[in-house]
Amino acid sequence: MSQPSNDIEQRIGDLSSRLNQYNYQYYVLDNPSISDMEFDTLLKELEKLENEHPQYKSPSSPTQRVGGQPLNNFSQVTHRYPMLSLGNTYSKEEIVDFVQRAEQMLGKEGLEWVCELKYDGLAISLNYINGILSQATTRGNGIVGDDVTQNIKTIKTIPLQLQGDDYPADFEIRGEVIFPHKAFEEFNKIRVENGEEPFANPRNAASGSIKLLNPQEVAKRKLDCFLYFLLCEEDQRLSSVTHYEKLQMAKRWGFNIPRYLAIASNIEQIMDFIEYWDMQRKELPFDIDGIVIKLNDTTLWNALGSTAKSPRWATAFKFKAERVSSTLESVEYQVGRTGVVTPVANFTPVWLGGTWVKRASLHNADQISKLGIRIGDEVLIEKGGEIIPKIVEVKHREGNEHKEFEFITHCPVCGSELVKEEDIAGHYCPNYNHCSPQILGRFQHFISKKAMNIDSLGGEKMKYLLDNNLVADFADLYALTADNLIGLAAVDTDKKVSIQEKGATNILNALAQSKSVSFERVLFALGIRFVGEVVAKKIARHYINIDNIIAAQYEDLIQVDEIGEVIAKSLLSYFANAENLLLISKLKACGLHFEVEQSTIGSSLLGKSFVVSGVFENYSRESIKQTIEDNGGKVVSSISSKVNYLVCGDKMGAEKKRKAESLNVKMISEQEFSQLLNITN
Ligand code: IVH
Repeated sequence: MSQPSNDIEQRIGDLSSRLNQYNYQYYVLDNPSISDMEFDTLLKELEKLENEHPQYKSPSSPTQRVGGQPLNNFSQVTHRYPMLSLGNTYSKEEIVDFVQRAEQMLGKEGLEWVCELKYDGLAISLNYINGILSQATTRGNGIVGDDVTQNIKTIKTIPLQLQGDDYPADFEIRGEVIFPHKAFEEFNKIRVENGEEPFANPRNAASGSIKLLNPQEVAKRKLDCFLYFLLCEEDQRLSSVTHYEKLQMAKRWGFNIPRYLAIASNIEQIMDFIEYWDMQRKELPFDIDGIVIKLNDTTLWNALGSTAKSPRWATAFKFKAERVSSTLESVEYQVGRTGVVTPVANFTPVWLGGTWVKRASLHNADQISKLGIRIGDEVLIEKGGEIIPKIVEVKHREGNEHKEFEFITHCPVCGSELVKEEDIAGHYCPNYNHCSPQILGRFQHFISKKAMNIDSLGGEKMKYLLDNNLVADFADLYALTADNLIGLAAVDTDKKVSIQEKGATNILNALAQSKSVSFERVLFALGIRFVGEVVAKKIARHYINIDNIIAAQYEDLIQVDEIGEVIAKSLLSYFANAENLLLISKLKACGLHFEVEQSTIGSSLLGKSFVVSGVFENYSRESIKQTIEDNGGKVVSSISSKVNYLVCGDKMGAEKKRKAESLNVKMISEQEFSQLLNITN
């Protein structure tokens, strides 16, 4: 017999509010009143009833927490009240100044300040209408943010339905979404297991998570949220309530408010709070980056007002980047694709800025001697920009003072003697063609997006091709067949990648498509030392084809705009190597582009050579150079009789001018250059 519909509606409502209450007890109060199994049974019953009777499903139903349908994009929401940020300082004196300024402005001493933790996450604004979460918006630019309601609903400590009956009918509450350490670590571990890049820190991970379009993905990440700022100007009942009391009210309605709060009545108490948390923050299960002080008496907020960006009734004291001490256990050496050898310090793992760190780059031998490190020393580690760990200080342990650190003399992989060039920091392995990390690195570079874009091959698969001896040089890639690829698996068995039929087809298609990649990118893909994307473009446009580049002499190369001594020498040494020349002829035979396609660039300045000097009124020097190259002209760095035009800006070099005059090189202004383009186009 079917139940009457009002019974069902009532049961759904009853289950919803009971589950919301259990959720609150479990997540916010950390004090569950029923077992997980009982909770799951009730949740399943609710899900079933809602599926059968979707008309009774409410937006505050706890079933919403598992995440709704993926979105195509977020809609934009204008904040009812702008989302200001806080002034901040690293100096305690400035906190004293801030407090004194407020006292002076208000003509009052002994003001009460609420001290709170400054959570390091993503700011969020929640709107509740009649006790139900109606909308959640990111800060965005402070005026307009993204509607991330679906994602926010997956956070268990955010109430979907408020408790009690004294909440305002329509109000906003703001806070910070954070990724607690434990959840962050578990989440990163899974990412690494799946072959994905781990997030650098909990803040980035929290913010990246809330900006995901698929709420079901967000639901998998155990985010949390603290709410620290209640806004409700319309409700007269709240107009004279202190900030502290508002937070207590929010707590009664079911919000997760800051756990560690203090009311300070003088500067000393504020400083005590700062010092205490600077010491204790390491023990917290989430990241904070400072403390916030807010004037408790909200009736005085308006009198103090705000600057364009931040209020004068609150400010933040930021902690200096955290430094931790560890012990240097060893130094290992990594060989990059260009042969550069990078020393990396391995130290005893330490918890820093939300992650365990155990390695830091030492960059090169100079850096090692600057730091003066020895194995076994105490090292102090900081996170640069809060992300990349670096050793900032070394303290010699007893008995270590006299040991000298010796940089390796031979490549740790192929054994070749390392080279240290005068004008380049660091050592490199000169065994360009036969040192395995260089070969793998070069292949990974060759197939990368910005080079040949043979994306479906990917770094790991590339390694398998090399391990299985299917390729020895780039040209071999173009001889691969589906039979070669299918079933190919890792030689080192801990990686689980193997290539199936579909994967093989994708790789072969990408290889075929890569044959249409422009000469500029092919030149970049070759991986010549110091020839990055921009330089490759300059050289390709200048010389038009590979044969001209191969034939170019040193004096000629350094004439090219932005090609200095180091790049010129690197090009010469690359093309002096017979193996490289053979590779190029093989790649030509594969059908790769080794000539600039004239159709891709204009030809109005073809054959004309320019020097651009000085500061211009309407364009940057770079954009003038770009325009010349885009129209087939060449940009060179110094005046010679081969130069056709000197484009003269303000504060142009006197020497260039004199030389141009003596060699009869035509000097044109920015306006004349524009005319030249118009005439020729
Ligand atoms: S109050 C008008 N309280 O810090 C002031 N902000 O640099 C509203 N934050 O945008 C913010 N913990 O994202 C406040 N206890 C706290 C905070 C806090 C972290 C963040 C928030 C804000 C930023 C300002």
